[in-house]
Amino acid sequence: MDLGLAGRVYVVGGGSRGLGFAVARVLTEEGARVVLSGRDAASLATAVEALGEPRATGAVADSADPGSPERLVAVALDRWGRLDGALVNSGGPPLGDALDVPDDAWRDSFESVFLGAVRTARAISANLSEGGSMAFVLSTSARVPIPGLDISNGLRPGLAMLTKSLSAQLGEQGIRVNALLPGRIRTERTGLVDAGTTGSSGTTIPLGRVGEPAEFGRVAAFVLSPTASYLSGAVIPVDGAATRAY
Ligand SMILES: NC(=O)c1ccc[n+]([C@@H]2O[C@H](COP(=O)([O-])OP(=O)(O)OC[C@H]3O[C@@H](n4cnc5c(N)ncnc54)[C@H](OP(=O)(O)O)[C@@H]3O)[C@@H](O)[C@H]2O)c1
Repeated sequence: MDLGLAGRVYVVGGGSRGLGFAVARVLTEEGARVVLSGRDAASLATAVEALGEPRATGAVADSADPGSPERLVAVALDRWGRLDGALVNSGGPPLGDALDVPDDAWRDSFESVFLGAVRTARAISANLSEGGSMAFVLSTSARVPIPGLDISNGLRPGLAMLTKSLSAQLGEQGIRVNALLPGRIRTERTGLVDAGTTGSSGTTIPLGRVGEPAEFGRVAAFVLSPTASYLSGAVIPVDGAATRAY
């Protein structure tokens, strides 16, 4: 199946490694061009080199910085003259139980994870036309709380609901908005979470293994692609059936 991604341009948040990089890899393999963002210039340069300079460019941007989304849009338009969508993704919030986490950690995570996603959606959608597509990378914590990750448990469900709101608000323009809920996909983040929580997030995985980044990347690339033209407002777990809820 041709995903119809050739020549399209996407901003990929947190694109220097992990899930974002895996999505960028599939997008570029399918002929799309990507603007990768992240805070560290050296990791971005390595990622751009791995994907190939003609298809990828990097832009240093912190999702907590209000100016980041406009800058990423500008890079896409300057380099390729068009924008077709975005993977709205960044680093995850710190570990901790709700009663122990200090206010500053909640505030910083709200800026980076929540408001960063809202601002990105605002800037990207203002530059999309019919056929445009955004996908938020959230977590299965949008549906079922993960022990030891209460900032995620607090913020992700709100972003899942915003996915529904935005899909309704942008639907008339033919712009699609979806959310992806990774369960346990093998990245640096998974190692960190495993070290600080109850191992496999307190769940068993019916498929019997953690996921590989490429498995997430293929789902996300499909969701972003014009092939998924009637998929919008969907909140989709990519978790090997680990989430014991609809
Ligand atoms: N992997 C999983 O199984 C899993 C499960 C549930 C949810 N998630 C969520 O999915 C997202 C991606 O996870 P991952 O596993 O790919 O994490 P990761 O391997 O730690 O990669 C995070 C990416 O985001 C960038 N980043 C981090 N903080 C940023 C910031 N403030 N502004 C801009 N970019 C930032 C990182 O680059 P720099 O550090 O250079 O900025 C990197 O490119 C996270 O929100 C995570 O909580 C992942």
